[in-house]
Amino acid sequence: MKKLWSGRFQEKTAGIVEAFTESISFEKRLWRYDIAGSIAHATMLGRQGIISREDSEKIVDALKEIAGEIESGKFRFREDLEDIHTNIETALVKKIGPSGKKLHTARSRNDQVALDLRLYVRAEIGEIESLIKYFQKKLVNGAEQHIDSVMPGFTHMQRAQPILLSHHLLAYVEMFQRDRERLMDTLKRVNVLPLGACALAGTSLPIDRDYVAKLLGFDSVAENSMDAVSDRDFGIEFLSDASILIMHLSRMAEELVLWSTEEFSFIELPDAFTTGSSIMPQKKNLDVAELIRGKAGRVYGSLISLLTTMKGLPLSYNRDMQEDKAPIFDAVDTVKTCLSVIGEMFPHIRFNKSRMSDTASAAYATATDVAEYLVRKGIPFREAHETTGKIVLHCLENKKNLSELDLAEFKKFSPLIGSDVYKYLNAENSVRAKRSKGGTSPTQVKKQLKRLRGILNS
Ligand code: ARG
Repeated sequence: MKKLWSGRFQEKTAGIVEAFTESISFEKRLWRYDIAGSIAHATMLGRQGIISREDSEKIVDALKEIAGEIESGKFRFREDLEDIHTNIETALVKKIGPSGKKLHTARSRNDQVALDLRLYVRAEIGEIESLIKYFQKKLVNGAEQHIDSVMPGFTHMQRAQPILLSHHLLAYVEMFQRDRERLMDTLKRVNVLPLGACALAGTSLPIDRDYVAKLLGFDSVAENSMDAVSDRDFGIEFLSDASILIMHLSRMAEELVLWSTEEFSFIELPDAFTTGSSIMPQKKNLDVAELIRGKAGRVYGSLISLLTTMKGLPLSYNRDMQEDKAPIFDAVDTVKTCLSVIGEMFPHIRFNKSRMSDTASAAYATATDVAEYLVRKGIPFREAHETTGKIVLHCLENKKNLSELDLAEFKKFSPLIGSDVYKYLNAENSVRAKRSKGGTSPTQVKKQLKRLRGILNS
């Protein structure tokens, strides 16, 4: 097959070079965007009189036909045609002859590939955003169901203070909300039209870039042609967003793994969402959660890969930039699968409420409540902390829980302690008292729930 650049060349490209430089094998998924971009470009060329209206229409019709062939699986992609752009342009010329050869007027593959990738990332941001939202809704439903379930909250992996399970679940909803916001913010910088930069310098032909931007739904046009073809920040930004998102998923996955252990016994999953061991018959593993946790490494890898590809590149386009696609595609696929699977799995989680609330009440989880009780009696917090610490030590030495101390024992530590202290020693009451804004009391959590429901239904 004759190359796009055959005029200046006398020798055939070596097979090994063809195989090494091709990108069609992994970028086929860009076809839809490549064709959409070409249709807009051809329409603009016809409107500007750069090519005839007739040629423009012929090109647009043939491109639509090609899209239909690809969609139905009839189209044969050829590796000797290097990339998606050449595959489609070649099919076009084959269909309509010389008119097809006019499509690449005032365009280069450098601005074309930037365009395709921006259109792709834009579409995938939309998909990912709605998958996150779907999962957030499942989490909010879970929080609603467990509005009264108390569990221990942890710091340093040590039981810290009682909290509501719903509060814990809504913490993740907040994290995923930021993920969605980040993606939406990135979209502003993705949704900029690079086309019309041509190879790097722009063109002497009278193109209308604003019109193309309008046709393709771009908010703005890249202002500098050099930057337009050199920039992959939008991809890096997307990968950063994806990395933060998968980090959140991974933290949640880690908690699920932990909570499903016999030692915690906070949750259980049905057989359909777990896997067994080939040697230990008693085992039921949370491989799904472990894989989500594991895949975080892969998405971070994609981010580092693209950052590293770009770090040494002089302006403008360099072939290194072809290496942008694999990491972006892989990150897209990975976060989408992880979101889908966790979204399906989450409603099947059975929370062991009694176990959670027993652990929340045991030991000294309400010690901070005692300290705050003393503060309300007029004792400076530092002293209240010290006194409560001594009470806990006394309990430890006497193998008692806080609630097992009698009033006389309490009074030895502070005469200000009265019989009303006992109501602060119970996990439910402790939680109920955390009425500060954003705190774990049912009143606050209900407010958070309402707010989040509102956001998710909008
Ligand atoms: N396959 C190339 C890429 O992905 C397309 C642009 C090719 N441009 C060029 N001058 N060889 O970046």
